[in-house]
Amino acid sequence: MTRYDSIGRTYASTRRADPRIAAQITAALGDARRVVNVGAGTGSYEPPDRTVVGGDPSLTMLRQRAATRGAAVQLAAEALPFRDGAFDVALATLTLHHWTDIERGLQEMTRVAPRQVIFFFEPASSADLWLVAEYFPEILALGSERAAPDGARIGAALAVQRTEVVPVPADCQDGFAGCYWNRPEAYLDPMVQEGMSSFAQLDPQIRRRGTEHLRRDLETGAWDARHGELRTMTEIDIGYRLLLAGHLS
Ligand SMILES: C[S@@+](CC[C@H](N)C(=O)[O-])C[C@H]1O[C@@H](n2cnc3c(N)ncnc32)[C@H](O)[C@@H]1O
Repeated sequence: MTRYDSIGRTYASTRRADPRIAAQITAALGDARRVVNVGAGTGSYEPPDRTVVGGDPSLTMLRQRAATRGAAVQLAAEALPFRDGAFDVALATLTLHHWTDIERGLQEMTRVAPRQVIFFFEPASSADLWLVAEYFPEILALGSERAAPDGARIGAALAVQRTEVVPVPADCQDGFAGCYWNRPEAYLDPMVQEGMSSFAQLDPQIRRRGTEHLRRDLETGAWDARHGELRTMTEIDIGYRLLLAGHLS
């Protein structure tokens, strides 16, 4: 039983690829034909026009993959069951902070593919997000948050070509923790919270307390007085990044 076998049961109902972010990731894959998606979960961000193998330790997650997705394999990043160079690119999206041995997993990605594309968040930015700073600071103490690697740590294990900012659009569709930076009402929805690993791991009482605090601030206008200008922005940089590494084949 993995963490996501318990917290990932409703993942596919609130989490999906955002088309703008998907386009950025697909561009980063370049002309790769064979892609392995490590920590693939339900398969968000897998391009439909390549041969993709999605691998994940959680059967609960793999079973939520759409029938149109490529092959699914139960695996852990730390021991990929593929021969050296079996793929053109190894992709990992929003998953590294859940791995048990990040360096080992990155080493495996370089073994099975000459190029690596990694979508991750800079952990230092989490603390700045109003959601965390003002309502759910306990998120920062979660094991997965404390384990989240920054770009420097990921880069130290790979031959980095470049790191791109991934702006989060005002109508972001993915449902990850920072997705609703300008739509605070969304964080009151228990289903939306369930789809975010940070919320799903929080103590229920802490989760209730933070949610009620946010509900009150929305009702009284206190949230809008502090952050209302966010509602007028079209996109934001809140620390999501795309790292491209390895050698062009
Ligand atoms: C937030 S989900 C991301 C899923 C998908 N990549 C996406 O972008 O929607 C994190 C995923 O990492 C997987 N995971 C956890 N530990 C892992 C490990 N050691 N190796 C590979 N994947 C792992 C979880 O099972 C889960 O499916």
